[in-house]
Amino acid sequence: MTAIETHDLTKYYGDLCAVDHLSLSVDNEIFALLGPNGSGKTTTVLMLTTLLRPTEGTATVCGYDCATEGDMVRKKLSYVPQDMAVDIRLTGRENVVFFAKLYGVADPRAQADEALAIMELADRADDLVKTYSGGMRRRLELAQALVHEPAVLFLDEPTLGLDVAARKKIWEHIRKLRSRGMTVFVTTHYMDEADRFCDRVAIISRGSIMAIGKPKTLKAQLMKDVITATISGEFIPFELGSIRFLGRKEDDVSFTAENGREALPLIAEALVARGMKVHSLSLHEPTLDDVFLNVVGSSDEPRSFNDQQFRVMLRRRK
Ligand SMILES: Nc1ncnc2c1ncn2[C@@H]1O[C@H](COP(=O)(O)OP(=O)(O)O)[C@@H](O)[C@H]1O
Ligand SMILES: [Mg+2]
Repeated sequence: MTAIETHDLTKYYGDLCAVDHLSLSVDNEIFALLGPNGSGKTTTVLMLTTLLRPTEGTATVCGYDCATEGDMVRKKLSYVPQDMAVDIRLTGRENVVFFAKLYGVADPRAQADEALAIMELADRADDLVKTYSGGMRRRLELAQALVHEPAVLFLDEPTLGLDVAARKKIWEHIRKLRSRGMTVFVTTHYMDEADRFCDRVAIISRGSIMAIGKPKTLKAQLMKDVITATISGEFIPFELGSIRFLGRKEDDVSFTAENGREALPLIAEALVARGMKVHSLSLHEPTLDDVFLNVVGSSDEPRSFNDQQFRVMLRRRK
């Protein structure tokens, strides 16, 4: 039975289409829903975890219908929301045992201890959670999610707000769960993390899937070098023969070219000739950020992708 399947899954909030005919099949992998704030990631997860009713379309988890077989679906999955709270007045173990009892597992204490051990929290299990770091609290949430041995794990922005080292550690743990046979459905707006740690990603924008596949495949599809220039001055997109404008992210403007080394001086020259100051210029292989610009950003319009501006832009488009 496929872990997660959706067909035309759709959610409207009033007139706003937050998730737009999403069709997906996810099984035996770490799958990332990747997109900026407001693109519909959380809404998708809420529907898959039975917490929100779709406006249209269907979703199943382990073969059970999320809308009509909620009880069975909830037995199969765990969900760690973006802002889940652990009780900081309790110890780590008390938090996990509480969850184990909620799930009605056979031996709450033993299964809590096992989950704590998997998350490398055994030695701190008897300390109050208020003495834990942010990364440890996240790991405790994962331990809670593991305690009834779910087949499918949903994680909404699991590394948000953590420092670089803690993020890496969380991902190592997520990979470990994957190797124990769990299907992991994760949302993130960190392209680099999805690229490094996920088996497959779907890039979504305004509730629609714009690209889906292995990070490596998506990047290879660009089949080009990417040249990024950090500039100041007013930028108007342009093309130079086969050198294409890819997109803009704050002061960085990117281009694709068949041969990056040849394109580099041409781009520098063209930017200066158009009155811009070029602060740096770099040549790199495509990243998921570039894939995102390619599939979401239009080539004829300067775009800025900080989250706030992106939201404003989306609102204007509607
Ligand atoms: N309860 C709600 N009522 C109305 N609009 C909502 C609600 N929840 C989310 N939205 C809107 O739906 C869109 C998708 O939101 P969300 O799924 O939270 O995106 P993401 O998780 O990718 O940031 C956004 O435009 C957001 O403002
Ligand atoms: Mg969200």
